[in-house]
Amino acid sequence: MEDMIENIKKDVIENASNLKKMILSDSTNEIKKIIVRPVQIKNREMFQIERYCLNKVFHENIEFNKLLDIPYAEYKQIMIETIGKDIIFSKQKSEYKKKERPNNISPTDIKLSHNKQKSYIINEGDYVPAMIDLGIFTKDGKIVRSKYDKFKQINRFIEIIDDLFKSMKKDEITMLDFGCGKSYLTFLVYYYFVEIKKMKANIIGYDLKADVVDRCNEIAKSYGYTGLHFQMNDIKKDKLYDGKIDAIISLHACDTATDYALDFAIKRKIPYIFSVPCCQHEINQTIKKGGDFDILLNDGLIKERFSALLTDAIRVEVLRAKGYNVDVIEFVDFAHSPKNIMLRASLTDKSGSFDKVEKLIKKYNFTQKLYELTKE
Ligand SMILES: C[S@@+](CC[C@H](N)C(=O)[O-])C[C@H]1O[C@@H](n2cnc3c(N)ncnc32)[C@H](O)[C@@H]1O
Repeated sequence: MEDMIENIKKDVIENASNLKKMILSDSTNEIKKIIVRPVQIKNREMFQIERYCLNKVFHENIEFNKLLDIPYAEYKQIMIETIGKDIIFSKQKSEYKKKERPNNISPTDIKLSHNKQKSYIINEGDYVPAMIDLGIFTKDGKIVRSKYDKFKQINRFIEIIDDLFKSMKKDEITMLDFGCGKSYLTFLVYYYFVEIKKMKANIIGYDLKADVVDRCNEIAKSYGYTGLHFQMNDIKKDKLYDGKIDAIISLHACDTATDYALDFAIKRKIPYIFSVPCCQHEINQTIKKGGDFDILLNDGLIKERFSALLTDAIRVEVLRAKGYNVDVIEFVDFAHSPKNIMLRASLTDKSGSFDKVEKLIKKYNFTQKLYELTKE
């Protein structure tokens, strides 16, 4: 059996440069299917692995030699589609049988699949020096594995910002980041506007942690990022920037810190908001039974999730009442963060009422910070 697996690996390696697609199926583990395709990332030939688990698909790009690490023995069917021939391994009892058959795959078919690779605002291999200091990239441009989820989050965040700003003719922008923490996102926002869009940017990150703020200011200074600043402030009570502001961002600002960020934007009539809320405890701790939703309050886990969704629904309702158009976006796949709802809002001249929110509060007797901060 081990010899057979070695033979499969040998066939994979020998045919890797002609590979159109490899499909591994009929598995003995929770990853039911794996599809491998060649991809070109910047100028590097790599392989994209698609893993199918329950109803989700996970992607990873790997180097050629990592093809050997795929758990071939856990799949009963292995089909290697290459230029001119398919190689098929089928496990019967404990032995793999190998078959080969001709196909119509030509070299141009393979070139097409190379172009399908998604390009992010920053990609593995790009030289973004601050990202090395922040520990997202290694010195040779690889993503630090433990930071992969953060890398996905900040790239997606910038993509959503880019959707709005790419067609906008602006030379200058001021943006505030509430609860910037280690500031991966704040640095990337600055890089995006200054290095990619060639705009003048005034970006300020706020956080409670003095050491993190000092370190971020040092890094910004060391790269001559004159428009990027970090301040130690409590966004719940300190007086913040009072010049003209184009947009605010917040990524996982803890609990009610998100509400204070949204309240700041509402009161200052800031045109754009991009906010991904974090954990939220307030409604979960205060809500009482009172009506049709009571079955959602019987069990701790369901109550917690329901309260989190209700919190975001109320934030959306308040923003709409205060004149914002709001889109609720699944920000990244659940696998990269369970806190994956983004509220993207833009100010209009419309307004609405708090009626629906107030009816719910009367019935279920909970408190919600954004409502408390904004009610008249
Ligand atoms: C989960 S971290 C997220 C950091 C960063 N935005 C990210 O996504 O990597 C939340 C940050 O919010 C900051 N924070 C929480 N409450 C705050 C407040 N009242 N004022 C300023 N920062 C606050 C915390 O210090 C922490 O760094």
